[in-house]
Amino acid sequence: MNNFDKYNPTHIAFGKEQIERLPQLLTKSGAKKILLAFGGGSIKSNGIYDRVVKALSNFDVIEFSGIEANPQYATLMKAVELVKSNDIDFILAVGGGSVIDGIKFVSGAAKYDGEPWDVLSKKDGCTFKDAVPFGTVLTLPATGSEANSGAVISREETKEKLTMGGAMFFPVFSVCEPGVVASLPKRQIANGIADAYMHTLEQYLTMPMGNRLQERHAEGILLTLREIAHDLIANPSDFTLAANFMYAATHALNGNLRAGVAYDWATHMIGHELTALFGIDHARTLAIIAPRLYENQYENKKQMLAQYGARVLGIEGPQEFTARTAIVETEIFFQSLGIDTHLSDYTNNTNEVAQEIKNRFIQRGWLKMGERGAITPDDVEQIVLKSI
Ligand code: NZQ
Ligand code: ZN
Repeated sequence: MNNFDKYNPTHIAFGKEQIERLPQLLTKSGAKKILLAFGGGSIKSNGIYDRVVKALSNFDVIEFSGIEANPQYATLMKAVELVKSNDIDFILAVGGGSVIDGIKFVSGAAKYDGEPWDVLSKKDGCTFKDAVPFGTVLTLPATGSEANSGAVISREETKEKLTMGGAMFFPVFSVCEPGVVASLPKRQIANGIADAYMHTLEQYLTMPMGNRLQERHAEGILLTLREIAHDLIANPSDFTLAANFMYAATHALNGNLRAGVAYDWATHMIGHELTALFGIDHARTLAIIAPRLYENQYENKKQMLAQYGARVLGIEGPQEFTARTAIVETEIFFQSLGIDTHLSDYTNNTNEVAQEIKNRFIQRGWLKMGERGAITPDDVEQIVLKSI
């Protein structure tokens, strides 16, 4: 087990009728002038908007809507201006990972004097040093953004999708009502299950390091997601299924699994390129890349693949058989959720995509990815080629 720092200050308010606790949560947070930020129309049609507005009736509130899936820099910069020009001292993000991530960026950019994109592109010396505090009302379990300090921001002009983070980007609180799952399209529920599943695998399918508790925790999340997945897609109004989904997704990326372990994240970094280039849903990019990445890194990952195969998938047999079958079964699981797992299922425009992504990794200096630093730009090219 490696040394680790474990820090997560986010207050999770979980269960039924938690939105009605917003006045208390906001008062405790010292919020006076609030930016209420959300995405498109979903919160207006499922009743969440009305409940939030009612709960905020005694606060000074300005609204900002239109944060899109894979939140766009240009949109978010409009929110930055609103925060600056109205002396906003607290932001409430109501939405899924995109709205929450977008607000993490806004909270840092509103306190930053330079060009905020320089921070995302990791230009020398450019970092966010302060942030407007924010809370969230989660409407889509998937990313874990409600309980972590990371964000991913897209820029249409340059077809880039880049990450940011830091301890000041933990939400002060997150309201997590499993009932929000009822209005989600089946596609978004499938995406959420696949994303949470992949967050777990990124921190588990690496190398044995003697982290028994973290491994069992990861296996518990994977088993929970597999147990509920199909029933939940068939019956999104089932509160207990939705609650298990929501809490599993939070646990997959709230810092618990990463404590003391080696982690990979290369599937995510390659996947972000597919979203940036083709607009493919985040979770679907992971389902496209992961099976090919695990084949590419088979020798490095075979022990954990075999453990996953035996303990989570119930595969019996020699290590080679269990590990190889685990890769196949993972892809079958994603397909069983209705997720296509090849790039050509989403676009015909695949010429030179592998070369393009390889070149981007080289330009950014991402030369040694994965838990061992064993995934080179050449491997990235091969993984993408095989994913087509
Ligand atoms: O905009 P509205 O109308 O609200 O519609 C949204 C959106 O179109 C809709 N939706 C959300 N809640 C709903 C609902 N529809 C009906 N009922 C509800 N209760 O769902 C659509 C997708 O929402 P989005 O927020 O984009 O989905 P998700 O939560 O999957 O977030 C994806 C984004 O998060 C990033 C991804 O890269 C992507 O940009 N990630 C963030 C991470 C983090 N911060 O830790 C980690 C992840 O790996 C991921 O990269
Ligand atoms: Zn993800």
